[in-house]
Amino acid sequence: MSRTRVHNFTISLDGFATGEGLSAEQPFGHAGHRLHQWMMATAFGAPIMGLPGGSSGVDNAFAQQHEPGIGAEIMGSRKFGPPGWQDDPNWRGWWGPNPPFHTPTYVLTSRPRSPLEMEGGTTFHFLDAPGAEALKIAQEAASGKDVRIGGGPTMLRDFLAAGLIDHLHVVQVPVLLGRGVRLWDGLEGLEQQYQVETVSTPSGVTHFTFSR
Ligand SMILES: NC(=O)c1ccc[n+]([C@@H]2O[C@H](COP(=O)([O-])OP(=O)(O)OC[C@H]3O[C@@H](n4cnc5c(N)ncnc54)[C@H](OP(=O)(O)O)[C@@H]3O)[C@@H](O)[C@H]2O)c1
Repeated sequence: MSRTRVHNFTISLDGFATGEGLSAEQPFGHAGHRLHQWMMATAFGAPIMGLPGGSSGVDNAFAQQHEPGIGAEIMGSRKFGPPGWQDDPNWRGWWGPNPPFHTPTYVLTSRPRSPLEMEGGTTFHFLDAPGAEALKIAQEAASGKDVRIGGGPTMLRDFLAAGLIDHLHVVQVPVLLGRGVRLWDGLEGLEQQYQVETVSTPSGVTHFTFSR
């Protein structure tokens, strides 16, 4: 049975998953790279930033679960591009010609456009549909594999509130952002729907897994 999974979703100590002031120069706004430094230091994350090496310990063991068994991704409009990307007909996402998804990838937006076929198996499809409907479409495209929910926080919060997430891996980093978009707002008692496990690692981050 196809599951709906979230991996490596990172929040600050005060619960923010992105900063304020998103722009083409600053995909995470004033947060810069502070949220994802833990992942860029792993063997999984370093190549994504064009860096050599990377750790092979517990952080890496979590990080690399992002890929196996995934047949499609759904993401929010503000993960796909900076504010106003819909006005730029040439915008093709942040990730260059060969994005790191390698599956059909559904971008939720109230201003959909024609699909974009990229190198490496990623095709971006643009959908204006409620989360449950988008998930059905992605599950069909995933042909029995799991669907990854890529965030950002606004769309992930909607999916969590609608009970659509089976496995949630959240990483909390010891950074205070003070402002931005929070993940947990309005989700009181969510932990009661899951088995929750927590691991803190020597890098100073804490991994939470919420599994049904
Ligand atoms: N910390 C992490 O691990 C992590 C992970 C992923 C992304 N991010 C960051 O998070 C930020 C983006 O997050 P965000 O919370 O601002 O936005 P988001 O969740 O990426 O996107 C929200 C937007 O998606 C569109 N949308 C959502 N649901 C929809 C639906 N059912 N139907 C149609 N459109 C829908 C709407 O935009 P429109 O209708 O205006 O298009 C909505 O405003 C970026 O900085 C990104 O880099 C962080």
